[in-house]
Parts: sequence; structure tokens; C-alpha cells
Amino acid sequence: MPSSSLTAVVRHAVEADATEIARICSTAYRNAYRDLLPPEYIERSVSAFYNEPRVAREIEPVLPDWFGYQVVEEDGRVLGAAGGGMAGPDAGEVSLIYLESAERGRGLGTLLLDRVTDQIRAAGGTEMWVSVFLGDRNGIGFYRSRGFEPVSTVRAAMSRVDDHISSLRMRRPIA
Ligand SMILES: CC(C)(COP(=O)(O)OP(=O)(O)OC[C@H]1O[C@@H](n2cnc3c(N)ncnc32)[C@H](O)[C@@H]1OP(=O)(O)O)[C@@H](O)C(=O)NCCC(=O)NCCS
Repeated sequence: MPSSSLTAVVRHAVEADATEIARICSTAYRNAYRDLLPPEYIERSVSAFYNEPRVAREIEPVLPDWFGYQVVEEDGRVLGAAGGGMAGPDAGEVSLIYLESAERGRGLGTLLLDRVTDQIRAAGGTEMWVSVFLGDRNGIGFYRSRGFEPVSTVRAAMSRVDDHISSLRMRRPIA
């Protein structure tokens, strides 16, 4: 890992982070899927999930389903956000990991994934799951490089019958 990421810390988000989390997630989502998904779907998802009032409401955990937003911060700047929770007694779910585009590829996504993994383990999880859009080579490559394997294909969240947008469900044991 490059030394520049050694100064980065992951922490629970606080109310004052909501604006930055909403901005980072909206921007990263649009950039990541621009060539993969229809613009209407992207805007529908961004406005549903990453509007600031919703992010602000979801800063706090609702255990065990949602551990609350986590952020990675370096030199006083929030550079990325993640979140997850338990989907069953033994299974955790990573709901999202998004970074500032310029900060990709230097270990910050792994730091956030490690944080959610620790939270799932502490809640008794022995496996963890993530949904990645089918065809998202970066997302799939990232999770594969961290030990996740594809299990099944499902209709993506927020997808309407006529969108035909699918997600890949990926799993990793963490016992
Ligand atoms: C995906 C994302 C969270 C990864 O975070 P990151 O900080 O860039 O990733 P890291 O630097 O921690 O690790 C990258 C690892 O993934 C691997 N990886 C990334 N893209 C890959 C690809 N297309 N194919 C193969 N491996 C890939 C790298 O090889 C690296 O592994 P290594 O350290 O063993 O060499 C980040 O790039 C991001 O926000 N992307 C946009 C949003 C997104 O696609 N999210 C995924 C769905 S939630």
C-alpha cells in the first residue's frame, strides 16, 4: 500500500459529514456507471439514495440492519464513504463504497471494506455479500481481488422491468 494512505483514518460519520458524503457518492456513482447504465436510472438512483436529507438520516446506525455511514478521512478531508449491515444472523452486506475519483487505487477502498468487514464480524457474521452491477469491471475487479466470488445474478435495486439492469451478487466467507 502506498505510504500516502497510511495517514488516512476510517471513522463513523457524524452529522456534519452528510453534505460531503452526499456529494462524493453522487459524483462517484455518476462517474463509475456513465458508460454502463442509462442516465435516467443513474439519476433515479442518485436522487433516491444520495440526496443530502436521506444521507443525514442514515448517518446513525439502525442495528443490526445498518451500521451507519463510515468515512475515510485524510488531512481533515473526507475522501470516501461506505456502509453496511446485517442481512441475516450470519450474513453481512456491504451496501456501498464510494471514493473521490482522484483518490482511487491507493488503498482507501480496502480500508473502508475492512471497516465494514470488522463490523460484520463483530455482529456475528461469518460471510459477507455485495451487489455489483453486471458489467462493472472495476467494481467486480475490486471485490474479486478482495476474495469475493460471484454467486448469482439478480435484478438491480431501483431497476424497473423495462430497464433490464442486473446486479451480480458476490460473496466472501469471513469466519
Ligand atoms: C471500487 C473502489 C471502491 C475501490 O477502491 P480503491 O481505493 O480504488 O481500491 P484499492 O486501492 O483499495 O484496491 C484496489 C484493488 O482492487 C483491484 N482492482 C481494482 N480495479 C480492478 C479491476 N478492474 N480489475 C482487477 N482488479 C482491480 C486492484 O488491483 C487493487 O488490488 P491490489 O491492491 O491487490 O493490487 C473505488 O475505486 C471506487 O469508488 N470506484 C467507483 C465506485 C465503484 O465502482 N464502486 C463499486 C461498487 S460499490
